[in-house]
Amino acid sequence: MSLSAPGPDADQLSDLLRIAARAPDHGKLTPWRFILLQGAAKTEFATRLDALAAGQGDAKRQAKLAKLRVPPLAVAVIASPKTSEIPEWEQMLSAGAVCTNLVHAGLAMGFGANWITDWYSYDAQATAILGVRAGERVAGFIMLGTPREPPQERERPQLEPLITSWAP
Ligand SMILES: Cc1cc2nc3c(=O)[nH]c(=O)nc-3n(C[C@H](O)[C@H](O)[C@H](O)COP(=O)(O)O)c2cc1C
Repeated sequence: MSLSAPGPDADQLSDLLRIAARAPDHGKLTPWRFILLQGAAKTEFATRLDALAAGQGDAKRQAKLAKLRVPPLAVAVIASPKTSEIPEWEQMLSAGAVCTNLVHAGLAMGFGANWITDWYSYDAQATAILGVRAGERVAGFIMLGTPREPPQERERPQLEPLITSWAP
């Protein structure tokens, strides 16, 4: 889905993040945080990633940056696990739930929303540019904007083979 301006305004963004943060969170640890990328700052972030990919001699990586450049707003959801008896796995699931909430909230508000994890979610130098700290991971970049065409439908899974009933 290609997304263009306008994106959410400040009030809409505030509502979107509040809804996103109402995610299941075992132990109330808030094991996630948001980094907002918009306007000139997003342009500069993409420029730095472009220079990084160019330095790596990776034109494919440079081309992937279009998905970041075009939408007016990107919300990086950062999984930020806490030291706790709650397993880190559950904290990561909570970060995924934040992403899903944000996608659904954006769609319900009439925007288009894409959950993207391109190379810059995993490359250590790229995540350092983003501001990801030790122990944290990028759960996803949620791209938000005005959809220019209806979302493409894709084949949905047959549920039957995925469902079993436990029996003693
Ligand atoms: C963790 C995660 C990462 C994803 N990363 C990408 C990605 O980098 N590029 C992409 O095209 N779709 C990615 N997707 C898929 C899209 O978010 C989404 O499923 C797609 O836009 C189609 O939407 P639909 O599932 O409603 O058809 C990712 C999904 C998840 C859960």
